[in-house]
Amino acid sequence: MKFFADTADVAEIAELASTGLLDGVTTNPSLIHKAGRRFLEVVKEICGLVDGPVSAEVVATDYAGMLREADVVRAIAPNVCVKLPLTFDGLKACRKLTAEGTLVNVTLCFSATQALLAAKAGATFVSPFVGRHDDVGFDGMALIEDIRLIYDNYDFATEILVASVRHPVHVLAAAKIGADVATAPPAVLKALAKHPLTDRGLDQFLADWARTGEHIA
Ligand code: E4P
Repeated sequence: MKFFADTADVAEIAELASTGLLDGVTTNPSLIHKAGRRFLEVVKEICGLVDGPVSAEVVATDYAGMLREADVVRAIAPNVCVKLPLTFDGLKACRKLTAEGTLVNVTLCFSATQALLAAKAGATFVSPFVGRHDDVGFDGMALIEDIRLIYDNYDFATEILVASVRHPVHVLAAAKIGADVATAPPAVLKALAKHPLTDRGLDQFLADWARTGEHIA
């Protein structure tokens, strides 16, 4: 399973990239706003920090406008992944861009039939938003199960990128279903490594080691 960082904060991305466990990055207009940096400049910097795909979202909502913006975005770096909304214009733009060899992430997916269309449009990634689904009383993980089933039924190559991840249990459930990627805020990715018994056990080992008076050298 691949892990993407869902942030436009370059310091956090650099820290996660240094672990060797980071496979890519996703951004969206809200995350760009939060970072307080110029869009093209920050995406270029992120593309230099990770080898994997870096999703950068267009904001035009019409086909021609999406393609115009995609031309600007895909010129940033070879690992840029153009993020398009799951609308008919977005799907049409997805079909064209992927045929040209551009990585495309179709975002704002909230149903399995939308995901089916994204796969038919040749999307590199589809991004179902589990957290926002849960927020309004639907089961986000049931959506991931449905998409996995449909993609496997037809051998679609589109990768399921589980988005709007809010906590480690979302990542656990996504991994059990066999989702290809989870994108999560850095705090959630770091929380995956945490366990109170690990901390307690380490404290105990270090205390006992100190009592031996030894040094490893
Ligand atoms: C990433 O591609 C999505 O834009 C992001 O995961 C949305 O997360 P949110 O629902 O927490 O804003």
